[in-house]
Amino acid sequence: MPARERTKLCRLDDIADGGSERFVAQVNGQARGVMAIRQGARVFVYVNDCPHTGAPLDFTPGKFLNLEGTHILCTGHGALFRIEDGHCVSGPCVGDDLQALDAVVEDDAVWVTG
Ligand code: FES
Repeated sequence: MPARERTKLCRLDDIADGGSERFVAQVNGQARGVMAIRQGARVFVYVNDCPHTGAPLDFTPGKFLNLEGTHILCTGHGALFRIEDGHCVSGPCVGDDLQALDAVVEDDAVWVTG
């Protein structure tokens, strides 16, 4: 298995505070679509595969949150995931988890290890 490398995902300002964006990142040596959710100076990054079917969660590219901004929403069948840990709390894959990447904010940039 390839070594897990820390890479720069984006600048912090590339994600609106309270919003989300989609990117491509190296996960276990493979380029994968990921989502990044920003809450102030914290950013949560997950692989953009729904545990229900493996499909991307965003119908509108980069828009991963429900209207209230409280949860990650899968537009496929309405599953809701906690922003903080990617745990599904409602929908067909309740109890499952999004695949998280280690993400840190340093020097106004978001760094991920996948
Ligand atoms: S594909 Fe995500 S809830 Fe069905």
